[in-house]
Parts: sequence; C-alpha cells; structure tokens
Amino acid sequence: MTDQSHNPDAGTPAGGPPPDGEPLAARAAALDLIQATLRRNVPFDDALEAHRGVRALEPRDRGFVRLLCATVFRRLGQLDALILGALAKPGQPVKGPVQDILRLGAAQLLFLGTPAHAAVDTSVELAVARGQTPYKGLVNAVLRRLSREGAGLLAAQDAGRLNTPDWLWLAWRQAYGTGATRAIVEAHLAEPPLDITVRADADLWAERLGAERAGAERVKVERLPGGSLRLPAGGPVTELPGFAEGAWWVQDAAAAIPARLFGDVAGLEVLDLCAAPGGKTAQLAAAGARVTAVDRSEKRLERLRENLARLGLEVDTVAADAAAWSPDAPVDAVLLDAPCSATGTIRRHPDVQRLKTEEDVAKLARVQARLLIRAADMLKPGGLLVYATCSLQPEEGERQIETLLARRPDLTRVPVDPAELGGLTGAVTAAGDVRTTPGLIPGGMDGFFAARLRRTG
Ligand SMILES: C[S@@+](CC[C@H](N)C(=O)[O-])C[C@H]1O[C@@H](n2cnc3c(N)ncnc32)[C@H](O)[C@@H]1O
Repeated sequence: MTDQSHNPDAGTPAGGPPPDGEPLAARAAALDLIQATLRRNVPFDDALEAHRGVRALEPRDRGFVRLLCATVFRRLGQLDALILGALAKPGQPVKGPVQDILRLGAAQLLFLGTPAHAAVDTSVELAVARGQTPYKGLVNAVLRRLSREGAGLLAAQDAGRLNTPDWLWLAWRQAYGTGATRAIVEAHLAEPPLDITVRADADLWAERLGAERAGAERVKVERLPGGSLRLPAGGPVTELPGFAEGAWWVQDAAAAIPARLFGDVAGLEVLDLCAAPGGKTAQLAAAGARVTAVDRSEKRLERLRENLARLGLEVDTVAADAAAWSPDAPVDAVLLDAPCSATGTIRRHPDVQRLKTEEDVAKLARVQARLLIRAADMLKPGGLLVYATCSLQPEEGERQIETLLARRPDLTRVPVDPAELGGLTGAVTAAGDVRTTPGLIPGGMDGFFAARLRRTG
C-alpha cells in the first residue's frame, strides 16, 4: 500500500493539458514544493501534505501540480542541461528561485505539452510574483528559446544517464551491469501505471475495473505474474469500482511479492515488524493470518489502521521500535520490510534520487542488520522470516542476507522457486532470493529484494 493509496488525487492526470482554473496558483505551489524537496531535502509527499495552497486547489489542478513536480524530479538532469545551454551566457548558470522557475517552465514546454505561451507567460509572472523581476527577461528569453529549439536538443540527449545521479549509476552498473542499468534508468523515465492487489476474485475485479463506466473511457486491465492487476495511471483511485468497499488496495506488483513468500499463512501468528502504511499487513490478514503490525511511527500506524478498516481487516497494532520490542512468545512467521533508501521506488517517487545519498545507504544498512537479528530472535524453531527492502542497493539486500547467514547457523535460506512468482524467472537470484528491478517487465515494477529464511534451531 504505497502512500499513493492515501492521496485522493493519486494517478491524476496521466498527461493532458494543463489546468486553466488557477494557472498561477498551481505553478506557485509547484515552485514551493520543488524548492522544499530540492533545496531543503523534504520528501515530496511530506511537502505536498503540508502545503495548504495545494489543498485549496481543484482536484484537476492538484493533479497537475503533482505531475509537474514529478516531471521536474524525473527529468532534472535533462532540464538543467537544456537550461544551461539556452542561457545567453552559458558560463554563468542561474541559481535559486530563478533556476527552479526555469525548470518548471521547461518541464511544461518539453514534457507536458503545455502551449508555449502559457508555459512562458506564467513562468514570467511567477518570477515577478516571487520578487525576481530583474530576471523576467532572462526567464522569457530562455523559455522562448527552448520552445523553439528544445525538442531537437532533447532528442540528442542521453536521457537515462543524464537524469541519474553518478553515485547511483556507478553502484547499479557494478551490481547489475551496464545493460540492466540502462533498463533501470529507462524505466524511471515513464509515469508508472497503477498496480493493485485484490483481496479475492481477481478475475471479477479485472472485469469490473475494465468495464465501461459513465463518463469514462474503457480501461485496459492487465493481469501480472503473481496476481496483481495493472491499470493505466489516471483519475482518482478513490473513484474506481471496489475502492470504497475495500475490494483492493494500491500496491506495486513487486511490493506484493514478499508477503506471498510465506505460502499459506491461514491461522498462523505473524509479526509484521515495519508495517505501515500496511500493504503487506493487508495481504497477510486477508490470507487469514493473525497479524501483529509493529511500526515505530504512531502517525503511520494510524494510517495503517484507517487502511485496514476500509478493507474490513482486523490486526493488532503496536507502536514500538522493533529493535527494542519483543513479542510475549516466539511466533510462526516474521516479515521485516525494513526501512531503506527506497532507490527501488524511483519511478513512483522520482524525488528519492535527489534526496538519498551513499551515506544514507550505509547508515540504513546498519539499522537493517540490527533489525534482522532481532527479527530472527522472535521466531519459533521452524518459523519463517521474510526480509524485504525496496532498494536496488545490494548493501540493503543480498549483502545483508550473506552476513546474517554467516553469523547465524540457526537460520537457513529457503530458496524461492520462480513458479511462486507466476513464472517471473528473471526475478530469482542464483542463491534463491528475489531481486526485481524496474526494467524487468514492460511497464516496470519497483526494485525489491526479498529473502526467505527458516529458523532451524
Ligand atoms: C518500507 S516502510 C514499510 C512499508 C510497509 N511494510 C507496507 O508494505 O506498507 C518502513 C516502515 O518502517 C518503519 N520503521 C522504521 N524504523 C523502524 C523501527 N526501528 N521499528 C519499527 N518500525 C520502523 C517506518 O516508520 C516505516 O513505516
């Protein structure tokens, strides 16, 4: 259950013309948001939630703000290279608000199909509104030049490489090779589709979600290996059939894999140690497990409770640090969906590649190692542990399991069979762990790592 599931505008719009309701207010909000993320390191979803101006906008304008910001984060390398080249004095790059106004204007011109006059005029107005009147002429000149020459320049760019920070490019090339890294960065360029996990009767819901509805076009619904349904992005998810009655929840196809690795959990006692917002908790509870959902954040747990209430599922919740908390007695199964750098979710959260650093990966890897030891200690002999992260960095995936198995002879890997993943052969490593990458299937999927271990002693 990605945070997409809580945003009533999730998925809107997948493209199309810009809003005509409040053009300047929408762009001013987008400017605030990209500045919060790019200049003050605030995760985009948090900035969006905290922004009062965005809440006051019409849903269509809110959708536009979201798409515009995501496009700037997704295409930042390309945008900056084009802006630099379009300056009258390329040796003197622009900085601060003017740079951000140009990024927003260029994103509209080159990627969102905004008519040139609208993109240029609103950018100039925004510069004036934000005290940048001396740069009015510069904004106008750069954007006009890009509206004339941008498409040709764009075609000559190496988009995937330009938009990927060096440290990620190098780390992925070392881990996966150049070809797979290319596939990853290409997958990051597209707005991702909407993946959902259906509680029961996927055929029925595929039919209902695809059926013609008043005022809406027929929707193509795809069945993915493993059972997720895939719909094109676009339109508020809350208005889709089945949302209100809790028939399904938003969850990337790769994020749905870890909870399935437990097999039949009906009647089993399962701990979900880093549970919020609850996508995997919902899978386990819907499959009949008695789930205790633990999360350090009370605020995120509240969201989990709301989500599970919509789905009509019951679980116990505990607000605690999983590294310090213990269950009353050892349990049958533990899911550790550990906090991580989230570099596997860049296509859904393109701001991640602008926020996270190599130092974050090292710090999080230490946290994951501690949590893994604690998780293993909570299991009965014979119990199963599934460890997962939505990271593409081996330090947060493969390396963790190698280190743990070397330290803990009471744990043994239970290799995953590709048949368990609906035949997704390319997602199983030689050691028998799950490794998905965003370029693995057409339309993409999150980059996830998952390993299944049994406690033998
Ligand atoms: C990757 S998210 C979990 C996503 C969730 N499993 C799902 O499928 O919806 C990681 C979660 O771990 C929580 N967390 C981080 N450190 C923790 C800790 N030491 N103990 C418990 N929860 C923690 C965060 O608050 C966050 O909600």
